[in-house]
Amino acid sequence: MEFRHLIDFDDLSREEWEELYQHASDIIDHPENYVEACKGKLAASLFYESSTRTNFSFQAAMLRLGGSVFGFADPNSSSTAKGETLKDTIKMVSSYADVIVMRNPREGAAKAASLYSHVPVVNAGDGGHMHPTQTLADLTTITRLHGTVDGLTIGLCGDLKYGRTVHSLIKALAKFNDIRFFLIAPRELAIPEYMRSFMKAHNMRFVEVTGLEPAIPQLDVLYMTRIQRERFIDPLAYERVKGIYILKRRMLSRAKDSLLVLHPLPRVDEIAQDVDDDPRAVYFDQARYGMFARMALLDYLAHLPRLERTEPVEIGSAPVCTNPKCICQTEHYLPPLVKTIGGVDYCAFCDSILR
Ligand code: NCD
Repeated sequence: MEFRHLIDFDDLSREEWEELYQHASDIIDHPENYVEACKGKLAASLFYESSTRTNFSFQAAMLRLGGSVFGFADPNSSSTAKGETLKDTIKMVSSYADVIVMRNPREGAAKAASLYSHVPVVNAGDGGHMHPTQTLADLTTITRLHGTVDGLTIGLCGDLKYGRTVHSLIKALAKFNDIRFFLIAPRELAIPEYMRSFMKAHNMRFVEVTGLEPAIPQLDVLYMTRIQRERFIDPLAYERVKGIYILKRRMLSRAKDSLLVLHPLPRVDEIAQDVDDDPRAVYFDQARYGMFARMALLDYLAHLPRLERTEPVEIGSAPVCTNPKCICQTEHYLPPLVKTIGGVDYCAFCDSILR
């Protein structure tokens, strides 16, 4: 494997994913072989935004590998509260730890951190943008329980606009063959334009629909998501869409026996309690597989050599991107990074289209 940071699922080739999956699978089958795999290694866990599963599963993963973890789950207890830049925090933390796991409410924050870090950085969620290690959990679950990811018909339902797990999953599925998507969302929560362009550029087959129930019989995987209340700028807009999809057990009566119902969790009300006992409901297994997938990832990254010097980074003056949620809006020294795909310019931090 060659990747050094996991910021976006695009950092991984399909071969690298398969290698990680084999590693995760071996850990699931023979956990006793890994109890000292990261002995002496230290992970820094920087959670600027709330989390239960991701934070705990990374910590549990490192501890099960025999490594240690330090960090914070509340940025008010770090020097950020005193006005320290992300760059300085990362420079400092990467001189203590072997790997950094970071969640931040700003889009592109993990990418920004990776520019200054002497050790690998893992994006544990950057605002409504990406969440690639949830995708490791999702793909591990599907592969373990279904045998393969190729050829599946997948329904993604709920908040496809702000749901970062959905964006990372779509990016990953571009590496597989013959996938069909039902993108199930109200118009207000449809996938962002950069994701739609991505799907078109990769010739991905998708339909955008608003109805959940009619799609269910065709699906191999139903991926439910929470409406991301914290990302709405207008609270009334949230009120209009909350509770819009609720999966109930009777709705599964026409579903395939082999259907997998996934959810990154936490759920609010989008999956009724009576679905939990249906054997097709595998979201709690998914959370457990996530820990093993993160063990495989940490076991690889924590052993990469620390860089004595990082590459020089241009000092920016004004943000090139107008997305108010982009990290470049608050960390003004960031370089003006632009990526051009198919003649269109995108902000290399948050992926929004530059106009
Ligand atoms: C997700 C997240 O944080 O994006 N949760 C998770 O990491 N398991 C989904 C969510 O918060 O709705």
